[in-house]
Amino acid sequence: MAYTLFLFFSFIQSLDLAAMAATLRPNFCSESYPQVEFIVKDVMKKAMKKNQESGGPIWEVKLGRLDSLTASQEDSNQIMPSPRSNATYLIDLFSRFNLSVQDLVALSGSHSTGKGKCFSIVFRLYNQSGSGRPDPTIEPRFREKLDKLCPLRGDGNVTGVDLDATPEIFDNQYFKDIVNARGF
Ligand SMILES: *[C@@H]1O[C@H](CO)[C@@H](O)[C@H](O)[C@H]1NC(C)=O
Ligand SMILES: *[C@@H]1O[C@H](CO)[C@@H](O)[C@H](O)[C@H]1NC(C)=O
Ligand SMILES: *[C@@H]1O[C@H](CO)[C@@H](O)[C@H](O)[C@H]1NC(C)=O
Ligand SMILES: *[C@@H]1O[C@H](CO)[C@@H](O)[C@H](O)[C@H]1NC(C)=O
Repeated sequence: MAYTLFLFFSFIQSLDLAAMAATLRPNFCSESYPQVEFIVKDVMKKAMKKNQESGGPIWEVKLGRLDSLTASQEDSNQIMPSPRSNATYLIDLFSRFNLSVQDLVALSGSHSTGKGKCFSIVFRLYNQSGSGRPDPTIEPRFREKLDKLCPLRGDGNVTGVDLDATPEIFDNQYFKDIVNARGF
């Protein structure tokens, strides 16, 4: 699903967002960009097919619902938890939106597919909770592998951190890795 959203937002970014935000209203896209529905449907269909091929669920994506008439980077930043957030913080954040611990665990399962960037994990490798030391709970061989991929003061934008041991398969490996101290 992360891939789907990435494609979708890449597409939206290619439109003139400022102009859209000023004039967005029902049917705005279909009137201004007659091809828009076709393109979005096509992109979503391909992404869903990829998801299904990797063992993931399939569902019909309903198009045409307006979530918001504006977009706010600031609001989004306030809600999106940092990769450094601890469990207490995440449980509290979710509860503010009436989402349970079970919801939090289920949504975390979306990490079954995909890759992350080094800057999301270097604090755990080198400076957990400001201690100047790695997170002692990471399984040592797993940490060695990550140290090579994401060296101290290396390029934080390197993308190659598998979110679980089977990053292209939709399965429950993510949860197994967490239990075995080889996850995020
Ligand atoms: C969890 O994170 C919050 C917010 O950053 C912090 O106030 C709290 O002390 C942390 N709790 C633990 C157990 O580290
Ligand atoms: C959470 O649920 C309560 C009680 O049903 C409701 O009053 C509140 O508006 C809900 N909050 C959110 C963010 O949905
Ligand atoms: C580790 O984190 C602490 C607190 O955020 C910070 O003060 C310190 O400079 C960091 N150390 C390194 C080596 O980045
Ligand atoms: C990652 O790339 C972005 C965009 O090129 C840049 O602004 C940012 O400083 C880079 N971050 C790191 C940690 O290197």
